[in-house]
Amino acid sequence: MTTSIGTDVAQAAHLLKQGAVVAIPTETVYGLAADTFNEEAVLTIFSVKQRPAFDPLIVHVRDREQLDRVAQVPAEAEALIARFWPGPLTLVLPKRPAVPDLVTSGLDTVAVRMPAHPMTRALLNALDTPLAAPSANPFGYVSPTTAQHVMDQLGGRIPYILDGGACTVGVESTILGRDAKGRWVLYRPGGIAVESLEALVGEVHAASQAAKPQAPGMLESHYAPRKPVHVGDVPALLRRFAGRAVGVISFRHEHHAHRCEVLSPEGDLAAAARHLFAVLRELDTSDCQVIVAERFPEEGLGRAINDRLRRAAAGR
Ligand code: TXA
Ligand code: MG
Repeated sequence: MTTSIGTDVAQAAHLLKQGAVVAIPTETVYGLAADTFNEEAVLTIFSVKQRPAFDPLIVHVRDREQLDRVAQVPAEAEALIARFWPGPLTLVLPKRPAVPDLVTSGLDTVAVRMPAHPMTRALLNALDTPLAAPSANPFGYVSPTTAQHVMDQLGGRIPYILDGGACTVGVESTILGRDAKGRWVLYRPGGIAVESLEALVGEVHAASQAAKPQAPGMLESHYAPRKPVHVGDVPALLRRFAGRAVGVISFRHEHHAHRCEVLSPEGDLAAAARHLFAVLRELDTSDCQVIVAERFPEEGLGRAINDRLRRAAAGR
């Protein structure tokens, strides 16, 4: 199959209506999209990604009507929706029967979000169904934040990549669900800071091991480059790997190493998040033997950065 990259929303809509899988830009990362209600198309997502069927997908809706078609919305979710949608917040809500079990891996909940990227909003407007989409990377690897990243790994396996430029958030959405007692639970830190959520809905609880569904987004080893990744005190790690070609990922400061990528000299965690995955990919394909990253401040988007780095370091 020949894969083309372009900015033709009508072309992407046409292919999706025919049951094809198309890569789409979102503000967080690129997604691998199919019509939510076309089970054969959704199956293709799993095979293109080599994703296990027990890992549920996120449903991307354009408006309230589509949200109500796929999920039951509890009153407690309204404030979050009003404040953070469209945007990088995914809500795990009771599912409607119309959503195929394949999309939710048989769970009685569905993960939903309303993306903010203007091109994907235009695409959703050109379609009549919400789009089921995981991140557009092979299972377990770093998520793509440019159309070229998608091409590098999935070229030849999908017909079209809708090019919306570099993602402005750069890490995946924050995933929030509710436990049996109706308390908000964080399944994945992401593009919306937990502090902002708590300012609106009060305490957000950590997902307990028991409450965790079988969801590889939460697997210890995920978001992982091929090269070994170590997270911690950079000078100490540089001493430990003396004599090897080390690629350093640093928040603000240069380090003397084979390669050093500074994510945000100004110390802006949102800017650091925006660059994180591109830098991980770059170091992974460079001549570095080891990737070393510092630990980021555990606040705001720093939590999502630390989460992804920790999972990347868990190796495979
Ligand atoms: O920013 C994002 O969320 C991107 C863009 C494309 O929207 N998507 C994304 O999808 O990161 P993916 O498939 O890589 O991660 C989705 C994760 C799953 O791995 C799982 O952890 C969680 O969402 N998930 C989906 N449905 C769920 C459910 N019913 N209950 C709990 N977690 C769920
Ligand atoms: Mg993913």
